[in-house]
Amino acid sequence: MSQLSNTSPHTTGDTRLDDQNNHRPIFIECDNLVKIYKVADLEVVALQGLDLLIREGEMMALVGPSGSGKSTLMNILGGLDSPSAGRVRVGDYNLLEMTRRDQVRYRRHMVGFVWQQTARNLLPYLTAVENVELPMALAGFPTRERRERAADLLDRVGLSDRMNHRPDRLSGGEQQRVAIAVGMANRPAMLLADEPTGEVDNASAEQIFHSLRTLNEEFGVTVIVVTHDITVANRVDRLVGLRDGRTSTEILRRREGDIAIHEEEYAILDRAGRLQLPEAYIDTLDMEDRVRLRLEEDHIGVWPEHNPQGEMSSNGQEDEDYDS
Ligand SMILES: Nc1ncnc2c1ncn2[C@@H]1O[C@H](COP(=O)(O)OP(=O)(O)OP(=O)(O)O)[C@@H](O)[C@H]1O
Ligand SMILES: [Mg+2]
Repeated sequence: MSQLSNTSPHTTGDTRLDDQNNHRPIFIECDNLVKIYKVADLEVVALQGLDLLIREGEMMALVGPSGSGKSTLMNILGGLDSPSAGRVRVGDYNLLEMTRRDQVRYRRHMVGFVWQQTARNLLPYLTAVENVELPMALAGFPTRERRERAADLLDRVGLSDRMNHRPDRLSGGEQQRVAIAVGMANRPAMLLADEPTGEVDNASAEQIFHSLRTLNEEFGVTVIVVTHDITVANRVDRLVGLRDGRTSTEILRRREGDIAIHEEEYAILDRAGRLQLPEAYIDTLDMEDRVRLRLEEDHIGVWPEHNPQGEMSSNGQEDEDYDS
């Protein structure tokens, strides 16, 4: 397995708000990641040069329009699909160079997966506790350890009184929380949840999110949630936006106590120096085609071409009249 470098200055890993996590080692590193699906004669580029760094123990959400590549990225990180080009490292695994054996080991020990469709996560003829025990049985854990750990996990997701229920006797939200416990059964380093709240009501979504947060805090598992759910998205400390198969913008929040939240929006600067501005900013300032840039001491100004604020006078000097 080849190791990748641990530094990627072209991503937002070293931003100010990220300081709270900066002491943690980088756990997931996607560098110029590309995924192309071939369907008959057509090629669909699902990921086109995606850069992303995720630190150990982070809990973050991925958002983005339909077709932007969220599930594609999750499937690659989950070892269910292989990338076409670029680099992607998770822990010690280089996902572009995995043998079949690596892949089995990776899926068994590194990843827990929770799908949107409740029915896809659980076996209908097993009780909640049996569902949680199953991955441990396949991994060869002794019966007693399985029982204990399954009960403990179900307790942590708030379902100790539902252990012996089959899925058809559980609500959608409860099934998703059992699915989270199943995902955690083999002590994975990361838990991936693709729209886990997509089929449940608000109150259940809240409980699902709470369970993910609890396991993140208590076991230090890295959690990535794909979501359209604004309440979920608003409650994570890091929200990464995908657009057209790339990371576009990113929101970092810092909690001070329980309520005060400091929030800043970031964009990804790729290695070619390209920057994608948030759509809302572009619309607000009516920017198109060409923008005017100015390098200041500690920042770069960006103006719409027609806006006098950043305009040059005819002799090529900046127009001081507009500058104050
Ligand atoms: N197995 C596949 N074969 C061919 N094309 C695919 C496959 N999976 C995804 N795609 C295409 O790749 C692009 C990204 O799809 P993806 O499922 O990752 O999007 P998404 O962000 O998860 O969208 P949604 O919010 O609708 O779930 C889309 O254009 C999709 O049609
Ligand atoms: Mg999807």
